[in-house]
Amino acid sequence: MPTVSATKSGPPPGFRHLPGHLERTAQEALVEEIRAVVRAAPLFQPMMPRTGKPFSVRMSNCGPLGWVADRTGYRYQPTHPVTGAPWPAMPPVLLDLWTELSGYPAEPEACLINFYGETARMGLHRDEDEEDFSAPVFSISLGDTCRFRIGGPSRKDPTSSFKLASGDIVLLAGEARTAYHGVDRIYPATSTLLKDGGRINLTMRRVTKV
Ligand code: SIN
Ligand code: FE2
Repeated sequence: MPTVSATKSGPPPGFRHLPGHLERTAQEALVEEIRAVVRAAPLFQPMMPRTGKPFSVRMSNCGPLGWVADRTGYRYQPTHPVTGAPWPAMPPVLLDLWTELSGYPAEPEACLINFYGETARMGLHRDEDEEDFSAPVFSISLGDTCRFRIGGPSRKDPTSSFKLASGDIVLLAGEARTAYHGVDRIYPATSTLLKDGGRINLTMRRVTKV
């Protein structure tokens, strides 16, 4: 028996899209912060558990915890999988955005940095490695536009898709928090923010229960 949310069209309740929330100067400042993070915690190549197939995105993290994917599984850990160093601190501007928009009383513990080259994509998945789903997943898009897709709690649920552009913020809360979602494609050369093109997505997450 399909649920109501699976039969109606459009994203699930709790999904919020704030187009252009960050202006260009704020986007530029954030990119500089992320460059500093990535100098200390270089992008690494995540792999699918078991198969070892590489993701098409490269990743890094900041904050007390970082999300990693390797042959042994998906998990959060306090250190970089290649350098072994603790993740850099989360830039205060990210914590301020979380405080402004998340509606959640505690700080995020992880900010995953996904870098998409022009052919990268992200298959449909749920963010489910956190202990606490009452906090939203808070996503910021920088650089080239992408096509983002979101469905429901089951992989078979109908999906809807739309473009996310540089400066857009998305919140996955409520039913949307555990909905399947992914990135179908990047639209190359749609932004001048990143000098070599591509897209950065930042997702802040609360990992442990408060
Ligand atoms: C993700 O689901 O981890 C990334 C979403 C995005 O790139 O917009
Ligand atoms: Fe995700």
